[in-house]
Amino acid sequence: MSETSNRPVLVVDFGAQYAQLIARRVREAQVYSEVVPHTASVSELLDKNPLAIVLSGGPSSVYDEGAPQVDPKLFEAGVPVFGICYGFQAMARALGGVVEHTGTREYGRTELGVTAEPGALHEELPGHHPVWMSHGDCVTGAPEGFTVTATSEGAPVAAFENVERRFAGVQYHPEVHHSPHGQEVLRRFLHDIAGIRPQWTTASIVDEQVERIRTQVGDGKAICGLSGGVDSAVAAALVQRAIGDRLTCVFVDHGLLRAGERTQVERDFVAATGVNLVTVDARERFLDALKGVSDPEEKRKIIGREFIRVFEQAERDLKAEGDYKFLVQGTLYPDVVESGGGAGTANIKSHHNVGGLPDDLQFELVEPLRALFKDEVRRVGTELGLPETIVQRQPFPGPGLGIRIIGEVTFERLELLRQADAIAREELTLAGLDRQIWQCPVVLLADVRSVGVQGDGRTYGHPIVLRPVSSEDAMTADWTRLPYEVLERISTRITNEVPDVNRVVLDVTSKPPGTIEWE
Ligand code: XMP
Repeated sequence: MSETSNRPVLVVDFGAQYAQLIARRVREAQVYSEVVPHTASVSELLDKNPLAIVLSGGPSSVYDEGAPQVDPKLFEAGVPVFGICYGFQAMARALGGVVEHTGTREYGRTELGVTAEPGALHEELPGHHPVWMSHGDCVTGAPEGFTVTATSEGAPVAAFENVERRFAGVQYHPEVHHSPHGQEVLRRFLHDIAGIRPQWTTASIVDEQVERIRTQVGDGKAICGLSGGVDSAVAAALVQRAIGDRLTCVFVDHGLLRAGERTQVERDFVAATGVNLVTVDARERFLDALKGVSDPEEKRKIIGREFIRVFEQAERDLKAEGDYKFLVQGTLYPDVVESGGGAGTANIKSHHNVGGLPDDLQFELVEPLRALFKDEVRRVGTELGLPETIVQRQPFPGPGLGIRIIGEVTFERLELLRQADAIAREELTLAGLDRQIWQCPVVLLADVRSVGVQGDGRTYGHPIVLRPVSSEDAMTADWTRLPYEVLERISTRITNEVPDVNRVVLDVTSKPPGTIEWE
């Protein structure tokens, strides 16, 4: 473990959605970063021993009442600072520059002009290049000692730097793809101006996490629930790397999985990691509990409740056999930031957060992905040798196919949906479309029948809905414009191969107004 890899670049969040993205970009420049709220005091920031501080964009005007300001003391600490958008203006103001409300707004793609003194930030970049702007106020006078390295029509000072003091800033958003040289500018600040060595690599993440897990778990034993998804698989693989067979994984087959998913865990994941695995076959139990239930929320409640019961029983069984004190969870960094617990350490608490967990099921949490973004988790998975099918898996809801059967869940309907879903997935993969779509729920309208004709006879079968969506974060989504030939192949194969299905329809609704799942 290197000494500097633990010291973060702190991204101060001024309340817009940019801070997490900036933190990711900093890490893409191979420098570890953390998001902190703008309410953190200068001494709280300095307590973290940061390598540099990035002030992010935000929605406010520096002149708004109650707008977050930057304490000028920050600039006396000898720590490099980079200001972005709002953070750039707040920085300018705190250092004695001039920020004005000129009435000229710039929003969206804007041409940036590099000045005759391009400095460390803009040297050798094209003299004019596009950047993404979003501002009302602008800096009209740089603080003393700063060089203005770029301008734009609406921002007389669009970038400045004081290399000696290791301060710099830009009015535009370097973190978004619409600023094609933005990542390079950020990289130059981090490596060239702040002088940080790029050391945050996938290999270093693995080494560091393995060491942390060993320190935390000592010679104890841990349990990890596998869902078949990326996060739990990578968390388990890391812990396995750290403590070997003192980790036992539990996989609950609730019968609502897609074709091949159990094999993926039982065969492929075990082959890749050598992990101890206990599979609990709870298929009948879930089907019994879901009998006669059509309401989506009720299904979710039942599935959630049964899952906890089955998992807790597995935990009890393991505890009866050995001294399992630790429970591994695949919590990711965005969850940590969003729940406001930046630096939080895992406490002894129940994993299900449902309260009233029996006393005999107290665990200490091990959360090896707590510092990582999803793309880093995938890279760590690859580094640990997990198969692509697991590492690149698209999101799949916990309640599984249970919420993709519109109507009562029965064994026959699940079988039918599994077949249709397998065909759709196979064809999408063959067509090379997996990376283009976020996910493609395949839905069985079990309570609907329509008339069809197959061979010589009339049919009265069920429709299957294809719901391919493109999305960044599942909060909003658009329906994916799949090539007609691919849709045709999927439709032909499903109606030919899946019994009792005589129609395939395409969902062309964005989110909002539709959700991604049908239930
Ligand atoms: P919706 O349908 O709300 O889905 O647009 C957004 C994302 O969340 C997934 N999803 C779930 N995941 N339990 C989960 O673990 C659930 O009950 C659940 N419902 C939806 C969905 O697949 C999509 O990625």
